[in-house]
Amino acid sequence: MLTENLTEAERQYYYMEQCRQWVEKQVKELGRPLTASVVTFGCQMNARDSEKLTGILEKIGYEMIDSENADFVIYNTCTVRENANLRVYGRLGQMKQIKKKNPSMLIALCGCMMQEPEVVEKLKKSYRHVDLIFGTHNIFKFAELIYRRLTENQMVIDIWKDTEQIVEDLPNDRKYAFKTGVNIMYGCNNFCSYCIVPYVRGRERSRQPEDIIREIENAVADGVVEVMLLGQNVNSYGKNLETPVSFAELLRRICRIPGLLRIRFMTSHPKDLSDELIQVMAEEPKICRHLHLPLQSGSTKILQKMNRKYTKEDYLLLVDKLRAACPDISLTTDIIVGFPGETEEDFLETMDVVRKVGYDSAYTFIYSKRTGTPAAVMENQVSEAEVKDRFNRLLEEVQTIASRVCSRHEGTVQEVLVEEINRQDKRLVTGRLSNNTVVHFEGDVSMIGKLIPVRLTSCKNFYYMGEPENFTKN
Ligand code: 5AD
Ligand code: SF4
Repeated sequence: MLTENLTEAERQYYYMEQCRQWVEKQVKELGRPLTASVVTFGCQMNARDSEKLTGILEKIGYEMIDSENADFVIYNTCTVRENANLRVYGRLGQMKQIKKKNPSMLIALCGCMMQEPEVVEKLKKSYRHVDLIFGTHNIFKFAELIYRRLTENQMVIDIWKDTEQIVEDLPNDRKYAFKTGVNIMYGCNNFCSYCIVPYVRGRERSRQPEDIIREIENAVADGVVEVMLLGQNVNSYGKNLETPVSFAELLRRICRIPGLLRIRFMTSHPKDLSDELIQVMAEEPKICRHLHLPLQSGSTKILQKMNRKYTKEDYLLLVDKLRAACPDISLTTDIIVGFPGETEEDFLETMDVVRKVGYDSAYTFIYSKRTGTPAAVMENQVSEAEVKDRFNRLLEEVQTIASRVCSRHEGTVQEVLVEEINRQDKRLVTGRLSNNTVVHFEGDVSMIGKLIPVRLTSCKNFYYMGEPENFTKN
């Protein structure tokens, strides 16, 4: 069949069908289903990409399982810190033995780590048991690449440096029936000096608002009530569209979708957070009372070296504005400790912001040197002992503050979106408040995906135990 005149999505459906026929044949020969497992590292972006990979695998006829003892194992990798890379190499080492026992097994690697040429060189040399390698820009080609691997019978590598292309309307499989991530943009143009993301995810590209709305409407028709809008820097959404649309305007349009109950988004860069956005957040009850606002450092000197384009004072002012407009908003953040040149005084500035803001939670990271980024060649890399000491002090402060901040709603009644039956105690259900705090309370499976009013009876550091209002025990 000639695939030249088809749209990209149509081409990919053609390859899905070819692969499906192959899988069907295998299933008949083996007399059992073919299984696949997608192992995800890293951020929400990767989690969403994995749902797309899973959707394609299901279409092809694989049965998805949660174990790496599968016929097809896909590692969706992260490279934001070196640790993430080391974990992948570790897993691949183990897979060598497993594959020896099941030689027809397939192993694929994709995601951010594959966009680094040294990684692919290393894989080609030392990890010959890998079957398929692709990157962040061409996951939509997954079926075509599997087909190539099946027909060529050798390691297939397809990495693109960058792309303008956004392929719509491919299958995807949602992990939860009632909530989903929705990409609104891809890539990042900020080049924070420590960060490898702009090199591995390419330049900013926004999806058309109509495509985003259509995707959400379809998801709502399928039972989704909460969406998480995803982008590396959602506040610069739409700036490069032919007809520019601001992120605040996109949010307004999404709020009008009937049946959608909650809207979350991440990540927001403080430098681009507009007054218009703050206003929309204050006006629209569907937008959740939570903002993830990465600080990275509280020292203006370090922020400048990080190329963050705001000062300590700018950040604190922004927090004041947000709190004035949405008094009950929860703030969370990312902080890096041990950036090159960070002195004790710089670190104390970070501690000062942590105390002043009072975060509901903070992800704290030890600076990790990423080859190719400007920070990797900066002088005065901080000694390991100093970094560890600062990291521990920061973590303790963050946790103490978080447990105090988290308890501020104790005794009140709030709506909880129920997500699942509690994993430890089957009589309980687990859900989230609008501000993202986890709540456990007595309930049953019929509550999943529903908003239930719950009295928050006691706060346990970072989560609540509650009682549903109007709850009558028999
Ligand atoms: N070292 C440590 N942390 C990093 N992050 C990004 N790059 C690095 C790095 N080289 C952190 C930032 C970012 C989060 C996703 O990961 O805090 O917000
Ligand atoms: Fe990395 Fe900065 Fe872009 Fe975030 S905004 S992905 S930290 S370069």
